[in-house]
This record gives sequence, C-alpha cells and structure tokens, in this order.
Amino acid sequence: MITARSRFAWCVTGSGHYLDESIALAQRLPDLDLFLSDAAEEVLPIYGMKLEELRPRFAPGFRLVRDKTASAVPVGMLYDDVYHTVVIAPATSNTVAKCVVGISDTLPTNMFAQAGKLGIPGIVFACDTEPVVVTKSPHDWVTLRPRRLELDNVQRLREIDFCEVVTSPAELEAAIGRRLDALSLAWNTSSS
Ligand SMILES: Cc1cc2nc3c(=O)[nH]c(=O)nc-3n(C[C@H](O)[C@H](O)[C@H](O)COP(=O)(O)O)c2cc1C
Repeated sequence: MITARSRFAWCVTGSGHYLDESIALAQRLPDLDLFLSDAAEEVLPIYGMKLEELRPRFAPGFRLVRDKTASAVPVGMLYDDVYHTVVIAPATSNTVAKCVVGISDTLPTNMFAQAGKLGIPGIVFACDTEPVVVTKSPHDWVTLRPRRLELDNVQRLREIDFCEVVTSPAELEAAIGRRLDALSLAWNTSSS
C-alpha cells in the first residue's frame, strides 16, 4: 500500500557524465523508483551498470520504469499522487533543452513537464554547465566545451516553475537533503 505522495521519482537520462555519482545518491534514498530514458538504458550498461543488477542496490519496493510507451503511460503515477519529488540526474544536454522548450517525448521529459503542471517539486542535475567539462567516456577522460547554446539552456531552465537546477554532485546532495528535511524524511543509513 503506497501512501499519498510518498516516493521519489528519479529519472536517469543517457549521460555518462556524473552517472556514477547520481546513482550513488539515488540508492541512499528511501522509497525511490528509477525512470529511464531509452538512452539511459543504453548508457547504463556501457558504464558497467546492468539493469538486472540495479534492483538490489535500492530500497525495498523499488521499481525500474522503462520508456516503453509513446504516451509515457507511467506518468499517470504522478496523477495518482505516488510521487512527492521528481529528480532528473544526470540530465543530458538533450533533456535539458527539451525541458526548457516544453518538449515531452521521453519518460524523463514527460515526468518533468507533468510534475511542473501538478506543482510537484523537481530537481534537475544539468551537467553541461561550465565552459570546460572533463568527462568520463567509456574508456577515457574527454574534455568538452559546451556551446553557448547549452550554457544558455541551463540558465533558462532555472526560470521554470517548480524546478531547482543543480550543477554538481555536492549541490545535488544538498538539494535532496533540503527536500528530505522539508518532508521530515532521512537518507538511508544502510546501503543495500
Ligand atoms: C557512452 C555515452 C555517453 C554519453 N554521455 C553524455 C553526456 O555526458 N552528456 C550528454 O549530454 N549526452 C551524452 N550522451 C549522448 C546522449 O545519450 C544522447 O544525446 C541521447 O539522445 C540523450 O537522450 P535522453 O536525453 O533522452 O536520455 C552519451 C552517449 C553515450 C553513448
């Protein structure tokens, strides 16, 4: 039995940048479900996280929700008051751009848009936020220079209602900590 708005909806997109750090934080949260974009499904195993091995890392009751419908059917769980918070971490440049212009054609972008329309707080960990980003490709470290376009999109995302933008693992942890405090909840003390 799920009580009203008692769970975190944590969306993962196809970003290798800060993927490990994001999943490590997610697994410290109580009552959390993961929502994957199709790209996340591909990228997670590339970084050593097979889908079938994710489940034991999360709290009991965990659900792994995959992007298998054109109309984002699982978003209905927001209308059923299952989730109190929607997190997108890590968020690709692609997902940030779609969120900024209101495109909802993946599970994470649909979760973001519908949560906003329902007044459910969202936290987005945008990764292309500095002029120079050093990121872990599957086999090496790569230096990327996000364009003005990507940097501007992050600024525009900050202006969207019910959306807090964070730009580092430390900021993500702090934002979630504040959300837990507001909900009188706590991080998991045991790691599964
Ligand atoms: C191994 C790998 C790593 C990737 N890492 C990133 C990344 O760090 N940031 C990013 O914006 N896109 C990254 N991409 C590209 C995205 O996965 C791609 O743009 C995809 O269309 C994003 O879809 P989504 O936003 O719906 O998840 C990566 C792709 C691959 C194959």
